[in-house]
Amino acid sequence: MNEKQRMESKQVNSSDKKSEKDFSKYFQAVYMPPSLKDAKKRGKEEVKYHNDFNISPEFQGMGNGRKFYIRTYGCQMNEHDTEVMAGIFLALGYEPTESVDDANVILLNTCAIRENAENKVFGELGHLKSLKKERPDLLLGVCGCMSQEESVVNRILKVHPHVDMVFGTHNIHRLPNILEEAYRSKEMVIEVWSKEGDVIENLPKVRKGSIKAWVNIMYGCDKFCTYCIVPYTRGKERSRRPEEIIQEVRHLAAQGYKEITLLGQNVNAYGKDFDDITYGLGDLMDELHKIDIPRIRFTTSHPRDFDDHLIEVLAKGGNLLDHIHLPVQSGSSEVLKLMARKYDRERYLELVRKIKEAMPNASLTTDIIVGFPNETEEQFEETLSLYREVEFDSAYTFIYSPREGTPAAKMQDNIPMEVKKERLQRLNSLVNEISAKKMKEYEGKVVKVLVEGESKNNPDVLAGYTEKNKLVNFKAPKSAIGKIVNVKIVKAKTWTLDGETVEETVEVN
Ligand code: 5AD
Ligand code: SF4
Repeated sequence: MNEKQRMESKQVNSSDKKSEKDFSKYFQAVYMPPSLKDAKKRGKEEVKYHNDFNISPEFQGMGNGRKFYIRTYGCQMNEHDTEVMAGIFLALGYEPTESVDDANVILLNTCAIRENAENKVFGELGHLKSLKKERPDLLLGVCGCMSQEESVVNRILKVHPHVDMVFGTHNIHRLPNILEEAYRSKEMVIEVWSKEGDVIENLPKVRKGSIKAWVNIMYGCDKFCTYCIVPYTRGKERSRRPEEIIQEVRHLAAQGYKEITLLGQNVNAYGKDFDDITYGLGDLMDELHKIDIPRIRFTTSHPRDFDDHLIEVLAKGGNLLDHIHLPVQSGSSEVLKLMARKYDRERYLELVRKIKEAMPNASLTTDIIVGFPNETEEQFEETLSLYREVEFDSAYTFIYSPREGTPAAKMQDNIPMEVKKERLQRLNSLVNEISAKKMKEYEGKVVKVLVEGESKNNPDVLAGYTEKNKLVNFKAPKSAIGKIVNVKIVKAKTWTLDGETVEETVEVN
């Protein structure tokens, strides 16, 4: 559904949660229901670009004397959405707060990727119930990926009627209207569009720091891996125009940011949706390469769309970092087929070979799912052997979690949970073993560290990340914060490195 169709239909509405028990009717008549079925549609409809976001005069000053608190779950995309929502709150006159206790509005920006992510949010909603009882004028909202799921919205209606607002990932720019409606009606406001998605350019943002920044380059995902809920919750693949991205990165460089991470669920599909230009991630990186900003990363890659042009551009080095997060998910071609990953073991290994040939020092990290329905011991061992062969620097590892509405959730599964847990442990020990070995290789070497601040555990120690995203702790004057400095590694741990500054903290870009 596009913006026009939405305007023509009735979208925001409140439900009388107190007097009604037949929840199903809300989905038909009262508000725009989230729907996994609709979310799956991928039409030929053009992506609409909007550049006209503003705070309408009726909402100005809405937040005066009020504070907002946003709790973020899940990936960097969510973190960045939180920065946008915080920007909208500030534009409305709200102040940020670090605690739910003095917040007038609390938002939970949720993640739907695995069941335990959802359980955390439901648990938190339970805790917040007492706060809401004490202060009935507090507004409590649920947004992000979980809101896009029909079953979640139903459960909130039934079990958590103290929630005031539920809005989806396509509705963030409507936050002022949603808040206004929630204040006015004091009843649950639900606005979730099951749409393919537009691109809204000029939303305000408050970035979390002044050293590193996230920049969206595309939204949504069309890959429909059989286990994954993201294509349903985030809509279809749609790319921001290159000139908008380039301008945003230039602007961040001018403001003194040192590192940019380009974000997208499947960044390698960047530009595939343009019908007026032929332009991909390689072209974009080539342009960003010329901008005077020390570090540019991107995440997340899909092996299927990772093309030779991108490898060629990345090999130019400079501000394009040679750390690539390349989720493999499984080392077994049979499992990859069932996952609909659209590559097999050999093709993945061939891609790794090409990357290493072009960038001999490149470091690779990955995501792996164990215990996909019916995964055999042999298939799992293929994952272990692929891991050994590639020698990833590290990996995020997960037990498969069925997500309602996805094809894999309908598959019969004959693997007991104990077996899945045991496989995860075996995989994790391999991940640790190889990570420790790779970290050891840093001892005695000098690395460039972008210093982010004091270490969490010791304020006398500074911490920052290397080009390959390794956390380094070392002693140096606070004036080093925000700079890139040379650090000699004296001791390697499994996940972090201890170092000492090589020279006075001179910036080394
Ligand atoms: N179960 C377990 N892990 C999942 N991921 C995505 N969907 C699921 C699921 N249903 C993992 C994938 C992905 C990462 C972000 O989360 O490994 O790359
Ligand atoms: Fe999910 Fe696959 Fe899309 Fe990644 S590429 S977001 S795993 S569907």
